[in-house]
Amino acid sequence: MKIGILRGQENSFPNALIGRINEKAKRQKQDISAEFVVLGATRMDAGPPYDVILDRISQDIDYYRTYLKNAVLHGTMVINNPFWWSADDKYFNYALANKMGIAIPKTVVLPQNTHPEGTTTDSMRNLMYPLNWDEVFEYVGLPAFLKPHSGGGWKMVYKVHSPDDFFYKYNQTGTTCMVLQENIEFEEYYRCYCVGQKHTHIMAYDPRLPFGQCYLTDPPPISAKLKKRMEGDILKICKALGYDLNTVEFAIRDGVPYAIDYLNPAPDADYNSVTPANFEWIVETTADYLIDCALRKPDVIKKYHWATYLKPRTLSRTSKTAGAKTQ
Ligand SMILES: Nc1ncnc2c1ncn2[C@@H]1O[C@H](COP(=O)(O)OP(=O)(O)O)[C@@H](O)[C@H]1O
Ligand SMILES: [Mg+2]
Repeated sequence: MKIGILRGQENSFPNALIGRINEKAKRQKQDISAEFVVLGATRMDAGPPYDVILDRISQDIDYYRTYLKNAVLHGTMVINNPFWWSADDKYFNYALANKMGIAIPKTVVLPQNTHPEGTTTDSMRNLMYPLNWDEVFEYVGLPAFLKPHSGGGWKMVYKVHSPDDFFYKYNQTGTTCMVLQENIEFEEYYRCYCVGQKHTHIMAYDPRLPFGQCYLTDPPPISAKLKKRMEGDILKICKALGYDLNTVEFAIRDGVPYAIDYLNPAPDADYNSVTPANFEWIVETTADYLIDCALRKPDVIKKYHWATYLKPRTLSRTSKTAGAKTQ
């Protein structure tokens, strides 16, 4: 059984993961090995030689994303599901979690500020003009966060304090589709890992501190009630979105965890950023999970229907070990 890791610029996490999987497999005498994926031009009629691929970079490289879809078609389990990841966006997942009863800051998606290249005023003539901005500000409140409807890495995230401030920033957003979101003035903030839609790890985090110091090494204890609520919300969110590796960020206001950001299918796991203790949890839990996935029987796909590829893996696959127990 082979596990492939597709990575971008990062080093510490994928290197440690490969080492840990190979070490575990050797110790447990399992026929499993992990390596970095090697790929060139990809024929459509063959899959890669991997049972499982962990994808850390296809959000930035279109070629990798389509390669991974083809890999799924040929029976490889890809983490995270490239079909769902392609379909998802932050605005939709705020709306989805809100429906599920999770606390979400009030959020509005806005028309793009500038026409996308090649389009004209007519291309967007269904839009009202002018928009009722007073209504928007009244609903969301000010200050508020203006950020991409699907983004990451704090790119184009602005805190706006007044209507003038909002318009000044909005006018710089070009063709990027943006959301305006209620500011959660938080007492505490947590970044939480979720692996395999099952294992959760809550990390105290202060986004106001300089990069590299945000993860707190000696945080105050979390109340049992808040911990239970966050764990429940993390699992609800990751199951609903079908992500096997994700982080969920919560801003805590008046004891209520508001889910701020949970479209992180290639979450930061760098040793120098997440702290050694968190790094150890992430490497160990992900290694175990990837090994477990490699031991599952591949799906036998008989019906080539789009929805087949969006099904949660945990429901559509039976693990060899689980299968053995029921025989
Ligand atoms: N609604 C909000 N209330 C308070 N802080 C927010 C809000 N939205 C974003 N932030 C702050 O901005 C940071 C980046 O926003 P986020 O939605 O996580 O974008 P990214 O995906 O780029 O990380 C968050 O970590 C948080 O500190
Ligand atoms: Mg974030």
